[in-house]
Amino acid sequence: VIIMAPALLILLGATVILSADSLSDKKSLLLPPTNFTIKVTGLSQVLLRWESNPDQEPVNIELGYHVRINAPQEEDYETRNTESKRVTVLHKGFSASVQTVPWNGQPLPPSRWVSAELKAPPGSPGTSIVNLTCTTNTTVNNHTPLRPYQVSLHCSWLAGKDAPEDTQYFLYYRYGSWTEECQEYRRDTLNRNTACWFPKTFISSRGSEALAVHANGSSKHAPIKPFDQLFALHAIGSDDQKPSTEWFLIVLMAAICFILLIFSFICKTGHLWTRLFPPVPAPKSSIQDFFVIVSSEKTVSTETEIEVISYVEDPGFETLEDSVF
Ligand SMILES: *[C@@H]1O[C@H](CO)[C@@H](O)[C@H](O)[C@H]1NC(C)=O
Ligand SMILES: *[C@@H]1O[C@H](CO)[C@@H](O)[C@H](O)[C@H]1NC(C)=O
Ligand SMILES: *[C@@H]1O[C@H](CO)[C@@H](O)[C@H](O)[C@H]1NC(C)=O
Ligand SMILES: *[C@@H]1O[C@H](CO)[C@@H](O)[C@H](O)[C@H]1NC(C)=O
Repeated sequence: VIIMAPALLILLGATVILSADSLSDKKSLLLPPTNFTIKVTGLSQVLLRWESNPDQEPVNIELGYHVRINAPQEEDYETRNTESKRVTVLHKGFSASVQTVPWNGQPLPPSRWVSAELKAPPGSPGTSIVNLTCTTNTTVNNHTPLRPYQVSLHCSWLAGKDAPEDTQYFLYYRYGSWTEECQEYRRDTLNRNTACWFPKTFISSRGSEALAVHANGSSKHAPIKPFDQLFALHAIGSDDQKPSTEWFLIVLMAAICFILLIFSFICKTGHLWTRLFPPVPAPKSSIQDFFVIVSSEKTVSTETEIEVISYVEDPGFETLEDSVF
């Protein structure tokens, strides 16, 4: 009896799962979405689209959709829209499923899944580029106030180990809605492009979007496999220099406080103060004195501000950040 109990439990569990499954199959009032399509809308960018099922019988609850990205990277989310934009590498293909679900967590079983996929682009194995690295360099150009930050992009890579000798590679980047092909390549000994330089890009130094880089190629002897990579751009804009300036100020303040403390200590013990500064007659009005101090402080801080502004207005280029991926 003791040995049989776990076996019975397992059996029971299995039947419970089975009956629940058949129940959800029969009882689901929700129909799956229709016309589910995946469309490539840019480099490393797809648009998923579907429609609510026209045969759906009216139910008394709000409906939404559960989207599951299966490849290249699993991801699950819910939405009430009938379309969804994703940014992801596409050289390994892309596949996703969607089902109709009750929106407010009502205990109604979801619909069946409907799926769609993009096949991986063709190409011989080992022909795509490898070891892609990209670097951005942000410079401040004060002569063009509308676009003060200029971001250049440099990428380098190696030819795939099975790429034919006549392979030629082409590199593209997309940032937001901007896509550009490289115009300035550097080549290896076999005359294959292995590096690229974009002196000016549409990359925003303050944006949070990913930078998509795509490299494909051509050869007479084999189809060349394309390659995608997404890069996260780090937050730029003189923000990088701020922390160090703040730290410098904090250290400076601490140093000044320390020196003042030491000085007052010496003054107290050695009566240096009275020796250095003989007593002055007391002022007539202490309020007037207070104002004098405040206004002199104000002048000082204004001067500091002006100094900062004139520093910013200094003409010429200034390197802000070099990001290496
Ligand atoms: C959606 O699919 C149905 C067939 O399943 C088709 O008749 C209809 O035209 C499609 N609608 C759109 C907008 O493509
Ligand atoms: C290219 O990357 C691979 C690993 O991804 C590494 O083993 C190899 O050393 C790299 N080659 C060069 C030349 O950097
Ligand atoms: C970034 O650009 C500036 C100005 O063009 C240049 O002086 C600097 O050497 C560049 N840095 C890198 C790492 O390319
Ligand atoms: C490479 O990709 C670009 C951008 O998607 C495309 O316009 C071009 O036709 C492709 N070239 C090859 C050789 O596949």
